[in-house]
Amino acid sequence: MFVFPGRLLSFAASRSDLATLSSRCSGRASRGRAADRRTPRRKASSRSPPLRSGSRMANKFDGITIVTGHAFNDESLNDHNLHHLPDINPQRIYMDYNATTPLEPQVMQAVSEALQDAWGNPSSNHIAGATARAIINQSRQSVARMVGGKPEDIIFTSGGTEANNLVLHTAVEYFRKSCGAAEQGEGLQNGCHSLPHIITSNVEHDSIKRVALHLQKEGKADVTFVPVSRVSGRVEVEDIIAAVRPATCLISVMLANNETGVIMPLQEICQRVKFLNKQRERLRILVHTDAAQALGKIPVDVQELGVDYLTIVGHKFYAPRIGALFVNGPGSRTPLHPMLFGGGQERNFRPGTENTPMIAGLGKASELVTLNLSEYSSHMQSIKLYLEEQMESVFRDKIRFNNRFPGSDILPNTTNMSILGPRLQGWRVLSTCRRLLASVGAACHSASGHRPSHILLSCGVPSEVAGNALRVSVGRGTTKAEVDAVVEDLRETVQLLEEMN
Ligand SMILES: Cc1ncc(COP(=O)(O)O)c(C=O)c1O
Repeated sequence: MFVFPGRLLSFAASRSDLATLSSRCSGRASRGRAADRRTPRRKASSRSPPLRSGSRMANKFDGITIVTGHAFNDESLNDHNLHHLPDINPQRIYMDYNATTPLEPQVMQAVSEALQDAWGNPSSNHIAGATARAIINQSRQSVARMVGGKPEDIIFTSGGTEANNLVLHTAVEYFRKSCGAAEQGEGLQNGCHSLPHIITSNVEHDSIKRVALHLQKEGKADVTFVPVSRVSGRVEVEDIIAAVRPATCLISVMLANNETGVIMPLQEICQRVKFLNKQRERLRILVHTDAAQALGKIPVDVQELGVDYLTIVGHKFYAPRIGALFVNGPGSRTPLHPMLFGGGQERNFRPGTENTPMIAGLGKASELVTLNLSEYSSHMQSIKLYLEEQMESVFRDKIRFNNRFPGSDILPNTTNMSILGPRLQGWRVLSTCRRLLASVGAACHSASGHRPSHILLSCGVPSEVAGNALRVSVGRGTTKAEVDAVVEDLRETVQLLEEMN
């Protein structure tokens, strides 16, 4: 056996703990320098017991503690020797689970076992290769089961960004190939004399939005960004269907929004597209959903939804930084055109020697979701409701919830709220808070400075309210005691900021 315990440990620690600090694309976690200076470091309080094995996460490997939970304490900092991170207040409470999640202990164990035991090249014909291959196959089955698909419909990718890029790239190639065949053989089909047309919403993650904008800029595709309703916060089915043109080859709509948690009507979209496709001879409209924020929080079934593609993002459901794309019959029923060319792995759809340990982690995390989804989701829902109730009782008419839309369903773990007041902008509140680690929106928009989230503005939230927004997303192990501490932290912070007025 070939083991590097030390290196494994430092890797695992950095993936879970540092991720919360450096996650680029889903949450601008506050740093709280001012507050940290003002607050003496208290000793870590004894915390409530686990909700279940795995909800509070501390593993010991060779005497080194790996903390993968949501709170940062002195012990975890010392154990990890994170002296280069002086800004972390040891009393911090993590409520930014839409940005990223820590690894479940069982996931970490699966990763570490694969690192130790399955380091062989999965393409090798000997036992070392077969061991790795077996783990990959098993994970593929677990991921497929989680989304209600078949194992052969799962393509492992580096993450959600790659999976989303692969879908848009495929749509353009699919259009080109379909139209090329039409020109040569049976004459021009409708739509083939124009650019491929892609429909998406105006609240997608940047890994869809920016790809679409890039394709448009390069003259490779036309894109319609359908605005979400300012009443429901959802993209409306009728608006999507009204945008369809003869050259439409792809509709890509996220399953749940990362900032508001609004769940989009994918099933209805797919039903309407199925009907449209019956009237089309060649260029079928493909439907993709980015399920990054939905998996592990609500039931997701590709057959019930009726989608052709579905993006899976490990680090949003307590798996490591890896992803997968579900494709309904890749290369047969549904087109899939690789972006990379190489050694033939993933049936040439995504070549490159497989990342066995991370795939093992994704498989284990998927298994946990399949087994425990209703438990996870009801726990998160009740904690979120408790948080909202406590916020209402403390802040009364000063609190606004930015994700309460009539008739729309919201992710069980996500709330988006603004505390009204001239000095209470989200960034200011978070950077003054002593304990709460949350975000004001997607961190990929951090270049836009302190401007309000365009997603909230698109949903009809007034600018001055959106500017004060706090996106708070709770996790599987968040407790009521932590909610109480966070609400108290916010109360003190608001008082302080108002006194400074
Ligand atoms: C909705 C959504 N899609 C895609 C992604 C990108 O996934 P990854 O970070 O694995 O590239 C994220 C992550 O922030 C996300 O929230």
